[in-house]
Amino acid sequence: MKVLVVGGGGREHALVWKLKLSPRVTKIYCAPGNAGIARDADCINISAGDIQGLLDFALKNKIDLTVVGPEVPLNAGIVDRFEEAGLKIFGPSRLAAEIEGSKVLSKEIMAKYGIPTASYAVFTDPAEATSYIKRIGAPCVVKADGLAAGKGVIVALDEESALEAVRSIMVDKDFGVSGERLVVEECLVGEEVSILAFTDGVSVVPMISSQDHKRAYDHDQGPNTGGMGAYAPAPVYTAEVHRRTMEEILIPMVRAMNDEGRTYRGVIYAGLMVDESGPKVLEFNARFGDPEAQPVLMLLETDLVDIIEAILDSRLEQIEIKWKDQAAVCVVLASGGYPGSYGKGKVIYGLEEPGEHVVVFHAGTAAQDDEIVTAGGRVLGVTATGPDIPSAIERAYAAVEKIHFDGMHYRHDVGRKALERIK
Ligand code: AMP
Ligand code: GLY
Repeated sequence: MKVLVVGGGGREHALVWKLKLSPRVTKIYCAPGNAGIARDADCINISAGDIQGLLDFALKNKIDLTVVGPEVPLNAGIVDRFEEAGLKIFGPSRLAAEIEGSKVLSKEIMAKYGIPTASYAVFTDPAEATSYIKRIGAPCVVKADGLAAGKGVIVALDEESALEAVRSIMVDKDFGVSGERLVVEECLVGEEVSILAFTDGVSVVPMISSQDHKRAYDHDQGPNTGGMGAYAPAPVYTAEVHRRTMEEILIPMVRAMNDEGRTYRGVIYAGLMVDESGPKVLEFNARFGDPEAQPVLMLLETDLVDIIEAILDSRLEQIEIKWKDQAAVCVVLASGGYPGSYGKGKVIYGLEEPGEHVVVFHAGTAAQDDEIVTAGGRVLGVTATGPDIPSAIERAYAAVEKIHFDGMHYRHDVGRKALERIK
């Protein structure tokens, strides 16, 4: 079977890595891919947002299955376009992907179906948002409605930052049309956890739980990023939290999407905040998380192609999805300056021998002459498995020690919250 993976980050490298393990896959293409993916797949120079280009490629090369990594093509309707052309593709339709593409829609559906989440208000007018914030005060969370590459959410600890967020989103239009509407939310406290699930629109099969590390620096300091590391499973996601997440969040949400005429097939990602009162939804995403996909896919035992086919044939309930009884930890190595502006083209040293049980997934890398150089903010995701979280942490950081590039920075405390909980 010939497979096309759309995207070119760490998540897509993990998808390519996992698909390559399938005996059913004979050839993998990745668009656009990166220097690491190029060792596992044929990278083609088509951007993830160029749906017509991808469709032409898939038709011409008789691609049997396309797997979409990022949110942008999903929200632009890549799945609808491929299906209209008679091609098999894994991911939610445009209408279903809108649970990530519009925070307003996602909040409205949660409110309508009683899915636990932060209380909120929607604004189209900056003056009204401003007076509302002055009334409720800080802390609060201000979110641009549309896609903003992970940058459209501002957790405002004081009123001035909240008002500044409104200006940035609605007046300065820092996120373009994504900021035509915004959501102001109650600020939730607790510990975050990511639950990804496979669904064919009827059955919902959760993956192993994981936890992202959003802030740039150790001890959750510094600006928000796309994610500086992740581990799985997450001890905060207890059996009781799991039961409630399935009953109160994932199953009702998939049913709600059916009722709304937005049948959801693919991976649904629930970002949760957990406290004593239980789990509440911070956000839904329409895809695998990045970097959550890296540890989660390393622990997936079952052939991903079998799972995807079961979803496309609406028989997900008939297959058993198995997980390794292990833990995995991914440490992201980032460019100096990230998540702000950063340089590119720094030579990466020490990629040769990551060690046993370690995979170095590439995110922002490129090949230059005979060397591999940095080409993005998040550069590598060093991911290790082990019998438990402490050993996976040890293996991941031992592998990190071997790698170097000018300006490289990373978090030294990936997995710390898990260690505190299992202590
Ligand atoms: P999102 O892109 O919606 O996941 O938001 C990015 C990050 O902002 C989340 O991972 C949380 O750390 C934080 N966040 C979002 N919504 C809230 C909320 N209502 N309360 C507290 N933190 C939030
Ligand atoms: N790691 C967060 C996300 O993928 O949205």
